[in-house]
Amino acid sequence: MKYSALKGVHDLFPPDIYIWQKVESIADEVFSAYGFHELRVPIIESTDIFVRSIGETTDIVEKEMYTFPDKANRSITLRPEGTAPVVRCYIENHLYNQPSPQKFFYSGPMFRYERPQKGRFRQFYQIGVEAFGVPEPKLDAEILSMLKLFLERLGLKELSFEVNSIGCEKCRPDYKKALIDFFASKTVNLCPDCKRRYTQNPLRILDCKVDSCIELRAGAPQVTNYLCNECKEHFEEFQSSLKLLNISYIINPNMVRGLDYYTRTTFEVTSEHLGAQKAVAAGGRYDRLVEEFGGPPTPAIGFAIGMERLVEILKNKSETLETSPKVVLATIGKEADKEGLSIAEKLRAKGISVELGYGNSSLKSQMRRADRLKADYVVIIGDDELKSGRIKWKNLKDGSQGEIGIWEIEGFKGFY
Ligand code: HAM
Repeated sequence: MKYSALKGVHDLFPPDIYIWQKVESIADEVFSAYGFHELRVPIIESTDIFVRSIGETTDIVEKEMYTFPDKANRSITLRPEGTAPVVRCYIENHLYNQPSPQKFFYSGPMFRYERPQKGRFRQFYQIGVEAFGVPEPKLDAEILSMLKLFLERLGLKELSFEVNSIGCEKCRPDYKKALIDFFASKTVNLCPDCKRRYTQNPLRILDCKVDSCIELRAGAPQVTNYLCNECKEHFEEFQSSLKLLNISYIINPNMVRGLDYYTRTTFEVTSEHLGAQKAVAAGGRYDRLVEEFGGPPTPAIGFAIGMERLVEILKNKSETLETSPKVVLATIGKEADKEGLSIAEKLRAKGISVELGYGNSSLKSQMRRADRLKADYVVIIGDDELKSGRIKWKNLKDGSQGEIGIWEIEGFKGFY
């Protein structure tokens, strides 16, 4: 019997895993510098959390959730995204009682039952951030700047920042009405989902992935023309802060995002190298969600980075991230094997990565292995070396070599 992974999920192993590790460690560094702290939330949540926040008429809730009853017949969902669980955690643990703003980052797998294709998976990973308690657009710009710095630290400079404002509950009714008027004569040609959305949540028609709906929405009213004065001002201030921070951006008035909780600022970072699924990271403000979940009124903003898409771009860059051992300890004979084992442990305790030889292999094959592993040094221990108490070392990068007393090896300068 041969098993294989389920459709739309994937294993992670070397060498790709090195890129993942590098991305995670740079995220940790950069986000910490902006005062974000790590937070870990469960992978399963009660289904309502996602239905209420992402929205009943969204593609995610209507079609893509992994939802199942548990043994006590409660409806459970594998998280399709991280914002709703973080908001649940923020309220349940009264984190709003801590000094504002509260800023968090998280990473881990998300699950959406989508049709798998390039850049779209059923289990995919996100690194996300959420900041609570600040309404000013200065924070929106700061968060975009943090994302830009993170991407630059990974060597990515050629990405586009697309921004928009989708208004608030005050301007939304006028915009909704404009959409209803626009689509009134087109409803017969909308897909069955959008026919329903037309009456329930017309904004979602702008996010439909069906080709005929994409065609029908050409020329639809743009949300930026319906913003109330406060939202307009917020959007303008956001843009002037972006300019101050030297962040080039384009306004994409058609970007409404696929989740219902957004208010005001929304944004996406896109790459032309990714094909149809070109958003590497996306996010926005959700100033009403904490209150809707039963918490105190709390403005909030965040984004999530799609790890697979980011790694796909990084893989096309030439830099290799493979890690290689500092030292290969080539041992010849049983006694030397024992000595090698104990030296290796001492070096590792000092933080030096060491690979040992196994299986009585010849010196030649151990040297070949050291080359293949791209080790910096080979240290050779055989019977003669044990007798004399002096072992040979060779630097594989510059060809230099020499001898050193066994007792001195832990302090050998070249290793540090
Ligand atoms: P989202 O736009 O649904 O937003 O997802 C964010 C990113 O996750 C996307 O831009 C994409 O890179 C990646 N992604 C989404 N679905 C898939 C998939 N099926 N396969 C591979 N990658 C995928 C959110 O999830 C929001 N929670 C972001 C946010 C945080 N907004 C505020 N705070």
